[in-house]
Amino acid sequence: MADTYDVTIIGAGPGGYVSAIRAAQLGLKVAIVEKRPTLGGTCLNVGCIPSKALLHSSHLYEEATEGMADHGVVASGVKLDLKAMMAHKDGVVGDTIKGVDFLMKKNKIDRLLGTGSIAGAGSVTITDDQGKSDTISTKNIVIATGSDVAPLPGVEIDEKMIISSTGALALTKVPKKMIVIGAGVIGLELGSVWRRLGAEVEVVEFLDVCLPGSDAEVSKIAQRSLKKQGMTFKMKSKVTGASTTKTAVTLTVEPRDGGDAEEMKADCVLVAIGRIPYTDGLGLEAAGVAMDKGFIKVDSGFKTNVDGIYAIGDVIGGMMLAHKAEDEGVMLAEMLAGQSGHINYDAIPGIVYTSPEVATVGKTEEQLKEAGIAYNTGKFSFTANARARAMSATDGFVKILADAETDEVLGVHIVGAAAGDLIQECVVAMEFGGSAEDIARTCHGHPGLSEVVKEAALDVADRAIHS
Ligand code: FAD
Ligand code: NAI
Repeated sequence: MADTYDVTIIGAGPGGYVSAIRAAQLGLKVAIVEKRPTLGGTCLNVGCIPSKALLHSSHLYEEATEGMADHGVVASGVKLDLKAMMAHKDGVVGDTIKGVDFLMKKNKIDRLLGTGSIAGAGSVTITDDQGKSDTISTKNIVIATGSDVAPLPGVEIDEKMIISSTGALALTKVPKKMIVIGAGVIGLELGSVWRRLGAEVEVVEFLDVCLPGSDAEVSKIAQRSLKKQGMTFKMKSKVTGASTTKTAVTLTVEPRDGGDAEEMKADCVLVAIGRIPYTDGLGLEAAGVAMDKGFIKVDSGFKTNVDGIYAIGDVIGGMMLAHKAEDEGVMLAEMLAGQSGHINYDAIPGIVYTSPEVATVGKTEEQLKEAGIAYNTGKFSFTANARARAMSATDGFVKILADAETDEVLGVHIVGAAAGDLIQECVVAMEFGGSAEDIARTCHGHPGLSEVVKEAALDVADRAIHS
C-alpha cells in the first residue's frame, strides 16, 4: 500500500474501475476499494454481462426450436439444458471479471477488499468482512458506489419466488408463469429471456406505455413485437401487495385510474421498477456531502460540495448506464490529472437488447415538440431492406430527427435487428455535430442493415431511394 494515494476510488463497477485505469495511465497513484470479492460492479456481476449472455443463449434456443424452419433448417429433438446455459453465463462473467483483475495489476492499481467509508476529506477507511479496518490517506476520493434494486412496498423480494433482476439471472428452473412488475428495460429484457425458455410472461405496468422516456412510436412498435412473441401486458395498473404460499405468489393489482382490485397468480414474480442510488455505509452525512433525493450532488466536474470528494456513475443519477458511468470516470480522471475531460450527455446511446432491439440517442419527437424546436423527420422501414428480408428481420424502422434549419441530427430512434450496433454511426455523427445529409452522403455497404440508417437520413430531405 502507498503512504498517500493521488486518487482512491470507492466502488469497482464500470465507473470506478475505468476511472482507476485512466488515472493510472496518466501517472496518478491509484487505489480502488471494493466490498464484493469480485470486481466489475453491478454491470459485470449481476447486470449487463450476465443478462446479455442469457439473452443470446435464449435467442439461440428459440431460433433452434421455431425460428429456422423458414430458412430450410429443420431441427428436431432440441432440448433446453438450463444448467449448461447458466454455466455458460457464469463462465462469461468469470472471464470478464478476470480481465478486470488483470487490468488492475497491469496498471499497478492497488485493489483493497472491503467496505470503504469516508473518514474525512483525504482519508478513507476500509473495513473487511471480519470487521478489521485500515485507514489510508489520499488526495482525492471518488465515490462510484452505483445503485441497487428499487423496492416495492408490500411486495417483498425473497430472491426465490419474488425476485429482482439478480434472482432472474440465476433461476434453476423455468417458471410456468412469471409476472413482471415494470415494463422498463429490465422487465422487457429478462421477461424475454424467460418467455423464450418457455414461461408464460405477463407484464404489469403503471403507465400506458412501455420503456418510458423512449420515442412514443418506438415504444409502441417494441411492445407490438413483444406481444406477437407471446408476452402479455396489463398497462395502467399498479401492484399494491403480495402474498406467498409454497407454490404460488398472489398479487393484488389495482387499475391505476381507479376501479376494483383484482388478484393475479404466478409461480414467480420479477420486481423491475427501477434502481436507486447506493450510498449505505459511506459516512456521507458525517463527511458533510450534500445529497439530492438519495443521489450525490455534483457539479459539472463531478465535484461534491466537499473539496477533494467527487462522485460518478449511477450514484449521481442521470442515465443509469454502464457506458455513461465509464465516460464520467474517464473525464474525471483526466481532470484530476490536470487535463480538461469531455462528456456529451446529448450523445449517449441507450439500448434495449430485446428482439427486435431498441436503440435511441438524443432527443425524442416529444422532447423537441415540448422545447419548441422545429425539426424534420426521416424514417425508413426494415421491410424495405434486402438484408433484413434475408435475415427474416423485417420488424421496425430507423427514425432520424434533424434540425429544420441546420439539418443537424438531434435524435435517432431505432427499433429493429442490430439496432444497438446501427445507432453507433449516428452517435459518432452527433459527436461531430453532423447533419442528416452527412449520413446520407456517406457510402454504406450493400447489402447491409446500415442502409436503413442511410435511407432514413435521405428521407429527412424526402429523397429516400427505396421507398
Ligand atoms: P456499479 O456497477 O453498481 O458498481 C458499484 C460498485 O460499488 C459495486 O461493485 C458495489 O459492490 C461497490 N460498492 C458500493 N458501496 C461500496 C462501499 N462502501 N465500499 C466498497 N465498495 C462499494 N447498463 C448498460 O449500459 N447496458 C446494459 O446492457 C445494462 N444491463 C443491465 C442489466 C441489469 C440486470 C442491471 C441491473 C443493470 C444493467 N445496466 C446496464 C446498468 C449498469 O449495470 C449500471 O448503470 C452500471 O453498472 C453503473 O456503474 P457504476 O460504476 O456507477 O456502479
Ligand atoms: P426502468 O426505470 O427502466 O423501468 C421501470 C418501469 O417500472 C417503468 O416503466 C415504471 O413506469 C414501472 N413502474 C414503476 N413502479 C411501478 C409499479 N408500482 N407498478 C408497475 N409498474 C411500475 O427500470 P428497470 O427496468 O428496473 O431498470 C433499471 C435501470 O437499469 C434502468 O434505468 C436502466 O438504465 C438500467 N438497465 C439498462 C439496461 C440496458 O442498457 N440494456 C438493461 C437493464 C437495466
